[in-house]
Amino acid sequence: MSKVLEVRSLCKTYVVDGYSNNVLQNVDFSMEEGEFVTIMGPSGSGKSTLLYTVSGMDSMTAGKVTFDGQDISKMNKKQLSELRLHKMGFIFQQMYMMKKLSIIDNIVLPGYQAKKPRDEVNKRAEALMRRLEIIETADRYITEVSGGQLQRACLCRSLINSPKMLYADEPTGALNQKASMEVMHELVKANRDGTSVLMVTHSEKIASCSERVIYFVDGNIQGELTLGKMQHEDELAVRERRLKNWLDKLDW
Ligand SMILES: Nc1ncnc2c1ncn2[C@@H]1O[C@H](COP(=O)(O)OP(=O)(O)O)[C@@H](O)[C@H]1O
Ligand SMILES: [Mg+2]
Repeated sequence: MSKVLEVRSLCKTYVVDGYSNNVLQNVDFSMEEGEFVTIMGPSGSGKSTLLYTVSGMDSMTAGKVTFDGQDISKMNKKQLSELRLHKMGFIFQQMYMMKKLSIIDNIVLPGYQAKKPRDEVNKRAEALMRRLEIIETADRYITEVSGGQLQRACLCRSLINSPKMLYADEPTGALNQKASMEVMHELVKANRDGTSVLMVTHSEKIASCSERVIYFVDGNIQGELTLGKMQHEDELAVRERRLKNWLDKLDW
């Protein structure tokens, strides 16, 4: 197996009003191609910052990040945004969608931006929307769908260019339990189809669907738990209990 992401001695320092805040302190970890990894940890521990720096959305202060065999620390802004457009997908708790575009127009946008043939992009958008059961929302505006539907639309958009890696920052944070599990199932499916996933969540239930959990405290990895790939939903209760026991020992 080859690594999709390799993070070595990653540091990120924010300087605000002359004070430095070392938010990431020598972080080391890697992900195998096709892996589904979750990051948990207290608020303010640097989880979002980690996602932003390893995906090149934010600059790093020191260290090295290799994504899909490319050293992203050496790339300029334009190269990074091309890389993100073609090889990465993003979903966040707060959904960033264009208010003036319909759901389907939002979903196809990154495909058009990547200059892929439009009929191919349209077909893929439709197929994704059918799979995620939101095809009936295609022509609605984002204010005319439920939170769960909107988050599934975000997932469709993030998958439109068949990314190697999906970065998800609390993707179910704004959803109720039912909608959360629906979105989670789709993430698991996308992962089964070969997309690697790096996700941040506060939910034990959501995290227990993933393969490996990394616990983050004060900008550093405190421990990790390997759960293995979830084969069937029946395993969920046992996995969740295992995760809870482990988190208890970490003072979660
Ligand atoms: N753009 C920024 N400028 C300055 N400080 C920031 C910025 N983004 C995050 N921080 C600080 O970095 C720390 C970690 O934040 P964050 O990565 O959002 O944590 P988490 O996602 O684990 O809650 C916090 O102390 C936060 O205030
Ligand atoms: Mg965060």
